[in-house]
Amino acid sequence: MSQAILAIDTSCDDTSAAVVCGGSEVLSNVVSGQNGVHERFGGIVPELAARRHLEIIEGVVDEALTSAAISFGAVSAIAVCKGPGLIGSLIVGTAFAKALAYVHRLPLIGVNHLEGHICSAFLKEGGPPTLPFISLVVSGGHTSLYRVDSRGRYRELGRSRDDAAGEAYDKVAKMLGLGFPGGPIIDRLAHKGNPRAVPFPRAYMPQTLDFSFSGLKTSVRSFIANNASNITVEDICASFQAAVIDVLIRKIEWATAQQNITSVALSGGVAANDGLRERITRLKGIETYVPPKPLCTDNAAMIGAAAYEQFLKGDFADLRLNPRAYLPVG
Ligand code: KG4
Ligand code: ZN
Repeated sequence: MSQAILAIDTSCDDTSAAVVCGGSEVLSNVVSGQNGVHERFGGIVPELAARRHLEIIEGVVDEALTSAAISFGAVSAIAVCKGPGLIGSLIVGTAFAKALAYVHRLPLIGVNHLEGHICSAFLKEGGPPTLPFISLVVSGGHTSLYRVDSRGRYRELGRSRDDAAGEAYDKVAKMLGLGFPGGPIIDRLAHKGNPRAVPFPRAYMPQTLDFSFSGLKTSVRSFIANNASNITVEDICASFQAAVIDVLIRKIEWATAQQNITSVALSGGVAANDGLRERITRLKGIETYVPPKPLCTDNAAMIGAAAYEQFLKGDFADLRLNPRAYLPVG
């Protein structure tokens, strides 16, 4: 068996542990979500997220090892997400990983969460895409485009100047009283609505590969305030979703043209969106890779994938590893 890495991610509200071999073969990937904890607040409460991680992290790691049928003796390194994310949540994961590395005398690898999302494309489930490829990381915290030349070589081409796409989904769902997290609910309702019912604005910003979703969010808010009784929730969801997807697809087309690249990978929670998954496969002349949904939303397998290159290079952390809420790629 090639090197097995035990990986941990507690960057936000999912507690996850995975065992990944050779940076691509997922032996286990356990994700314990906290929607039940945060639902009634309509968003993630950082303090509650950190406490919940603390309560369950040991059990989640045990389960990852058990379902991979592996013990610490066969583990080559411990990898952990060191940011970006919610600082309290990150502290729980990194403290736990440091303790495991110390007790079992294993090397420790600190992994950037965004590099994790990018590297979900290197996991065996359908990947990897042909190199170089354009990676769109689209989640609750980030909407960014990268050029990926190989494992460990990424260049940011653009990013959101305000809200992430997933954040816009969650806020619009909250305005409509639909529950949390909003993305999957809006996705489901959008199937039943008319995407042309409301012409919400698309911030294409042709001079840049950056994104902006706050204007769209404001536009949905004022539309709801003025027209609530004349339109169905399904039509609002379908029209909002169409505006988000139009922008994401247009930016992907521009990025591939600008970089002269014909291969694209999606990742992040919004990459689980059915509308986006369907639209991306229709891009002409472009090879697309969209991971299975559980590898789009937060998971530790992607951290194990990203850690592999650092493992090969001997890029290890020591017990002073400190997580960071803000941590750009590279
Ligand atoms: O990657 P992720 O699990 O966590 C972050 O790193 O942020 O992404 C979570 C985000 C949330 O905003 C959630 O509403 C969104 O991904 N999301 C979706 C879908 N599933 C999750 N957005 C649109 N359609 C979906 N099916
Ligand atoms: Zn994420």
